[in-house]
Amino acid sequence: ERVAVIAGGLSNEREVSVRSGRRALYALAEAGVDAVLYDADESLLDKLRGDSISAAYVAVHGASGEDGSLQTALQLIGIPYVGPRPGACHLAWDKVVAKKLVTAAGLATPDWVAISARSFRELSPTRLVGAIGDRLGLPVVVKPATSGSTLGMSLVEDAAELPAALVRCFTYGSLALIEKYVPGVTLETVVIEEGGSPVALPPAAFLNPGTSPFSFEARYSADLITIEIPAPVPFDALEATAAAAVTAHQALGLRDMSRTDVIVDEAGTPWFLEAAVSPGLTETSVLPLAAAEAGRTLGTLLADLLRTAAE
Ligand code: DAL
Repeated sequence: ERVAVIAGGLSNEREVSVRSGRRALYALAEAGVDAVLYDADESLLDKLRGDSISAAYVAVHGASGEDGSLQTALQLIGIPYVGPRPGACHLAWDKVVAKKLVTAAGLATPDWVAISARSFRELSPTRLVGAIGDRLGLPVVVKPATSGSTLGMSLVEDAAELPAALVRCFTYGSLALIEKYVPGVTLETVVIEEGGSPVALPPAAFLNPGTSPFSFEARYSADLITIEIPAPVPFDALEATAAAAVTAHQALGLRDMSRTDVIVDEAGTPWFLEAAVSPGLTETSVLPLAAAEAGRTLGTLLADLLRTAAE
């Protein structure tokens, strides 16, 4: 039985994905699984068809790997894969849609405004800044509605910086999400389905002593960030975060495995930020650490997910 790890692709997160793909390949090999790494390029489907693959693990981050496109292609050629159906991927991928769905399921999420590049061009900057300030106050976080790894994100503390932050954001996508800034600790929680029921692994905290939480470089430099697992927050907040991750997984119709990111505020409330269907597997990513904390290796966890997908 041979499985595929698919990585790379054309998104802004290609480099991160290549690292995740290699890590998945080595982890699976250590677990005794025959795995092959494929780049998500134009020859992918032909190669997969020719190689008798029993199931695929999509380690492509960002567009195509997380928006449901690759999943649709795999379905068309009959290769089972780990992760949600294309439609659910698409819903989770759009942070504005995801926020609406988890709000309906009872989760807190920072108040927000979404603005398209087109409306931005048509509005005067003064009116825009006034409208956002009245609605959300400051600071706000500006981020692309569809992107990952902190790319295109800024913290805006001064209203005059908002137009430039939006311009930066629009280089990554045509819809910007402007969220009220919630001070607190960023926690990431992996949810795995075991026997059909979603179970949260211990939440991990991302701590950036002395660096911006919105720096891509810091995000992927092991010497610039610290990940603490379990997260150093009160037990009640850990439990609420784990429960929120399971609720988000279900509200978004996710499957097999996902990772939900929240900010936990001073009162211990988790505020939903986003859910990822192909979480990073790098040395500064939470999934491998969460697996270890739960007494599993990354390889056995991925092998189990692939086996279930192939059944
Ligand atoms: N978007 C990156 C890969 C993550 O969520 O881990």
